[in-house]
Amino acid sequence: MKISVIGAGNVGATTAHILASKGFAREVVLVDILEGIPQGKGLDMWESAPISGSDTLITGTNGYQESANSDIVVITAGLARKPGMSREDLLAKNTEIVKECTASVAQRSPNAILIIVSNPLDTMTYVAYKVSGFKHNKVMGMAGILDSARYRSFIALELHVSVEDITAVVMGGHGDTMVPLPRLTTVGGVPLTDLLPKERIDAIVERTRKGGGEIVGLLKTGSAYYAPAAAVVQMCESIALDKRRVLPCAAWLTGEYGLKDLFMGVPAILGKNGVEKVCEISFNDEEKALFMKSSEAIRKTMLEAQI
Ligand code: NAI
Ligand code: 2OP
Repeated sequence: MKISVIGAGNVGATTAHILASKGFAREVVLVDILEGIPQGKGLDMWESAPISGSDTLITGTNGYQESANSDIVVITAGLARKPGMSREDLLAKNTEIVKECTASVAQRSPNAILIIVSNPLDTMTYVAYKVSGFKHNKVMGMAGILDSARYRSFIALELHVSVEDITAVVMGGHGDTMVPLPRLTTVGGVPLTDLLPKERIDAIVERTRKGGGEIVGLLKTGSAYYAPAAAVVQMCESIALDKRRVLPCAAWLTGEYGLKDLFMGVPAILGKNGVEKVCEISFNDEEKALFMKSSEAIRKTMLEAQI
């Protein structure tokens, strides 16, 4: 298993570091345009291998040749948000960057599975899909695991219980219109709606929707990366080990949920072929309306990207 990570910034480097510590990849290649940065970070990580006991070889480079024949490519290259910016503010610049990176990757790793991270996420995944020409099951975006993890972490804090027992899914686009689903959230099998009053659940949902912005407001120089990187690695692991985990990610819809021709956050089975299947949930009217509103927001950004 060879995994390349494009963009050796906060998310890319942290992803490579966690991948190495997990040890399921034989090789991780970090690519960035900044001279010395991927090489230095890659070497530093490799030097930690004798301590961690991982034999995953990490290298850094400014070119794409070393990434050739990757099984998975994670694209994190692009600008990150600063305070006051929305993910959509990154659209023009990141479209150019993701186009360029995808073209370079697709040429050298024609059989790879692409996991896109750059924002605005759903549209950047679409850009990578169009530019790569890959089948839709081999292109996906990371956001749902992150948004769901934020939601789960806030519930654990509120109820003072283990994060492990909270099962939840956040769907829709990776933005203000994302759709957390309290009706389907359980804590050790107990419905969340039996454990918390509506106003507390509403507050957690609102904090989840603004979770990315909360971190940007605190960091001031960029956006979140520890939780995003952990989420990317969970997707890589499910694909690399063909675990067929059911994980929320931006997947291409071909009629599921009554929608088609867009990438949107849905629960999907991830295995050796990428997105093996999109899982459909029966929504109530309120959930359906929120999901449709989110799809409209994604389509608007897709149009603005002019792909
Ligand atoms: P960062 O600024 O720390 O790193 C970005 C890296 O991309 C930089 O090292 C930069 O040199 C590199 N880069 C720029 N143009 C490039 C090119 N043409 N080829 C190769 N490398 C290039 O940013 P960070 O925090 O790592 O975030 C990266 C992207 O991921 C941002 O767009 C951010 O909004 C997005 N993001 C998305 C999340 C999600 O849930 N989908 C979560 C966190 C971040
Ligand atoms: C986040 O949600 C920046 O999209 C990224 O943290």
